[in-house]
Amino acid sequence: MQYNLETFFSLLIRMPDIFRTSYSVKKQFREKQKNQKGVVLWFTGFSGAGKTTIANELDQLLIANNNHSYILDGDIFRSGLSLDLSFTKNDREENLRRIKYVAAMFCDAGIIALVTFISPFQADRQKARDLLGENYIEVFVKTSLETSEKRDPKGLYKKARRGEIKNFTGIDSPYEEPQSPEIILDTEQFSAAECALKIFNYLKQVKKNHNSSHLCFTKNNNKSGIINSDKILKLLNEQNIRDRKSTRLNSSHRCISYAVF
Ligand code: ADX
Repeated sequence: MQYNLETFFSLLIRMPDIFRTSYSVKKQFREKQKNQKGVVLWFTGFSGAGKTTIANELDQLLIANNNHSYILDGDIFRSGLSLDLSFTKNDREENLRRIKYVAAMFCDAGIIALVTFISPFQADRQKARDLLGENYIEVFVKTSLETSEKRDPKGLYKKARRGEIKNFTGIDSPYEEPQSPEIILDTEQFSAAECALKIFNYLKQVKKNHNSSHLCFTKNNNKSGIINSDKILKLLNEQNIRDRKSTRLNSSHRCISYAVF
């Protein structure tokens, strides 16, 4: 699907009618509630490279460790939300434009989103990185075309070689290798479980490094929100508060909980 000029201008005209509400419950609070950092693990690699298999292993590992994760699967996406799209370069770009916004919402909800799309073009992955910033973790599932084709779990390479599928990644459509992914998984050397463990350990480090922030949920005339760490410390100091677990700061601010990650 390609946006033509008419669509572009009608979008521009509609923009002034769009109002974005700034909701009171922020990402940090949802993260604190889940005791984890909401991030997007962006798996990229050939069809048959092992993206889904590894994501499935990791998902189980995370859930078993009381984390909150969810797999956003390319094939599932393409049988619903992106049913209207083909595999041309433009349609892949549109497909990834959609998933990056969906992933951003999961991330904002404090969930560890496992995105398993081929995402063959560097420019499209870069756009996802630009949107998600530090929450974007690129996982390159490094399996050669030869191995992926040998595995051919869905029989699609055979079809593509026979010319029954057009624009097939690796056959008649390119795959651009990531330049600097956060994680590289060599599935020809390591099992899916080992690869999942590697990501799991990486995430543990992310959580450790997650900037130590104090969170506070406040109530002020029935309005709720989060005040930042500086404000909490100032309020705590001002009132010389010892019990920092749950404290009435003053008549309008009630600190229900806060945490140092
Ligand atoms: S992407 O390029 O837009 O990121 P996506 O991950 O959504 O691709 O979909 C890839 C899946 O669609 C593959 O796992 C495969 O099952 C299926 N598929 C069908 N046709 C193609 C094709 N031409 N190229 C790649 N994958 C295809």
